[in-house]
Amino acid sequence: MEEISYICEARELKQYFPIRSDYTVKAVDGVSFGIMPGEVFGLVGETGCGKSTIAKDLCGIYNPTSGEVLYKGRVVSGKAADKEYVERRKKETQIVFQDSAAALNPRMKVEDIVLEPLLIQQGIPDKKAAIEKCVKMLEDVGLGAEHLGKLPGELSGGQRQRVSIARSLMVDPQLIIADEPIASLDISIQAQIINLFKEIQEQRKFAMLFVAHDLSVVRFISDRVGVMYMGKLVETGTTEEVFNAPQHEYTKKLLSSITIPDPRRERARRVV
Ligand SMILES: Nc1ncnc2c1ncn2[C@@H]1O[C@H](COP(=O)(O)OP(=O)(O)O)[C@@H](O)[C@H]1O
Ligand SMILES: [Mg+2]
Repeated sequence: MEEISYICEARELKQYFPIRSDYTVKAVDGVSFGIMPGEVFGLVGETGCGKSTIAKDLCGIYNPTSGEVLYKGRVVSGKAADKEYVERRKKETQIVFQDSAAALNPRMKVEDIVLEPLLIQQGIPDKKAAIEKCVKMLEDVGLGAEHLGKLPGELSGGQRQRVSIARSLMVDPQLIIADEPIASLDISIQAQIINLFKEIQEQRKFAMLFVAHDLSVVRFISDRVGVMYMGKLVETGTTEEVFNAPQHEYTKKLLSSITIPDPRRERARRVV
């Protein structure tokens, strides 16, 4: 019998942060789910529920307290990690962060930022061909050759996130981990960037973990959705299932609450 062949999977994943001798934050507390090749898996839940921690576990930034991360069916976390598959995950996975201002080296030109993954993974024997690929990638994300010599500080937030996306695409990733990639953008720009994600994903068919706290964003982009609440995955299903027939009380509550797209009010609401 062939197992379901997830590209990336979390099994009973736990990530605890000891804060004091008598106090541990259980950021992720027994989470299991898998992402199919070519699928967009949307992870949604309020701030602090553990979404970023899961994203970091899946791409190997954190080592889970217990449980396992699998890549293409092999364990890539902990002592039992299959080194070959750890390498494969590293090569085939790209990460797009929320804050492009912090994620991009302020002293590097766009050209070098976009070329960097290529340089790291395979070297650049043919600089001219590499630059051509770089320009093509910039065009694919709605920028152009005129941006090659710019520094991140000379770009708008939306343009910077486009650069981050172009950079991630340079090595033809099979999996993209996108952690709230539109959350720090102006509302008017968010729609453009989410549309861009959808477009390039449909063209290139990479698998993606798309983390967001906004339900409508997750609904728009995801094939399947996981709803998190306080370190636990309380519901998973196809986007249609979760949005049309939510099973868990927390999902129902989330769905019934109106999205308030103002970050300050969002914070105030959370305190309540
Ligand atoms: N490195 C860390 N050390 C201590 N606590 C952490 C660390 N990273 C996250 N946390 C805590 O774990 C919980 C989940 O955080 P996070 O995964 O960032 O949530 P989300 O991305 O859903 O907002 C929060 O309570 C956060 O404060
Ligand atoms: Mg987060």
